[in-house]
Formats: sequence, C-alpha cells, structure tokens
Amino acid sequence: MEERLDRLLAHLGLGTRKEVGKLIRAGAVRVDGAVVRDRGFKLDPEAVLIELNGEPLRYARYFHVLLHKPAGVLTATRSESETTVLDLLPNALWRDDLKPVGRLDRDTEGLLLLTNHGELLHRLTHPRWKVAKVYLAELEVPLPPDARERFAAGIASFAPAELEVLAPQRARVTLREGKHRQVRRMFAALGAPVVYLRRERFGPLALEGLAPGEARPLLKGELAALYEAVKLEP
Ligand code: URA
Repeated sequence: MEERLDRLLAHLGLGTRKEVGKLIRAGAVRVDGAVVRDRGFKLDPEAVLIELNGEPLRYARYFHVLLHKPAGVLTATRSESETTVLDLLPNALWRDDLKPVGRLDRDTEGLLLLTNHGELLHRLTHPRWKVAKVYLAELEVPLPPDARERFAAGIASFAPAELEVLAPQRARVTLREGKHRQVRRMFAALGAPVVYLRRERFGPLALEGLAPGEARPLLKGELAALYEAVKLEP
C-alpha cells in the first residue's frame, strides 16, 4: 500500500509531519539510493529501502506498545487540556496511528495496550473473544463474607467474574467483559467502593517489569500469544 513519505516518517516516530518535511527538503532522506526532496512522494514502505542520513529505516506496518498507565492520565489519543496516554510515549515509540485497546479510567493505573492494527483492536475489545482482564482493587471498607459468591453469580447485571480475596480490603478480580467503570460499579454494588485500581493483566500480557509511565514495544512472543487469543493469523 502506498503512503506519503512525510506521513510514513512521522509514523516511524521521527518527528511531526512538519519536522520530517524539513529533513526531506534538506536531502537527508533517500529512497532506493536516490535523494527524495518531495515530502508528498508516494511509496510502498514494504517494497523500498528508505535511509535517513545514510542509516536504513526499518518499517513495520503494525506496531504495538505496552504502557503502564499512571493515575491521572486520560485514555484517549488527544485532548486540548489533559495529558493523554499517547503523550506519555517517548519519540521512538510514538506513531500517530496508535490507539488504546479499551479504556482505563483516569484514576485507574496499569496495563494498557496500544496498537495500530485495527482488526486486532476490534477483536481484543469484542465481547465474543472474552479476553480476560485482571485487576487489583483496594477497597474503602472490608468486603462482605459472600463477596466471592456474589461476583461468581454475576453482580449488578454484569457477567459472572472471579474474585480472589487477598485481604479484607484488597482483592483481585478477573473479568471477561469490559463495560464502562465496571470494576468500580461491581464493588460499589457490594457496598465496598474502590479506592485504588490497577490492571495487572490483559489476556496473555502482564504488567510486570514496567514502572508507572513506562512503555515498551510488545515482544514477539507476546504478540503471537495475543494473535492466538483472538484467532488472528499473524
Ligand atoms: N473497571 C473500572 O472500573 N475502571 C477501569 O479503568 C477499568 C475497569
């Protein structure tokens, strides 16, 4: 598929469209060995060799990033007034077509996957695939003794969910659906409001090793496991 050169370089995280336009005009970019100064030049990134200042660029059509979202950040691609999850990505991981897979509330922290693969995003968020999401919740008051059974039976019209009580005011919950503020609403229905919420796992992906605000590209094995979880051909 053909793309404009400036858009492609911006996707690769080399700068804004304006910044990469300057690089192109300055003659820093070669396509198949020839300098190209036209920022609108159309090319198929998978069929040509692109070099920036003599260094070959590696292009991957699909790109996936794992972020440890901190509290206080909006799960959105842009906002006039607030920091979004995309604002947290370092240049090397930023591409303007990345989208968050599902949503974490502003006050929730934890694992958030970002991808530019539309079909993967669609399947991972579609109820049909029942991708498991695991959350750690801390509660304002102790849980009632029948909390686990009530979650298992399906509380407040949500589908049955697994609850592991770790302490009177701390529990881990596994969901296979993803409705708006679902975990908070489930615990509120038990009379134990959530005071802290973190997503620890999303399908085969785990948060371990990432500090709040940190991001990294998905590893090959993780990507294979994700594709397998939603029966997508790599
Ligand atoms: N459930 C919630 O209540 N909040 C989240 O951010 C995610 C799941």
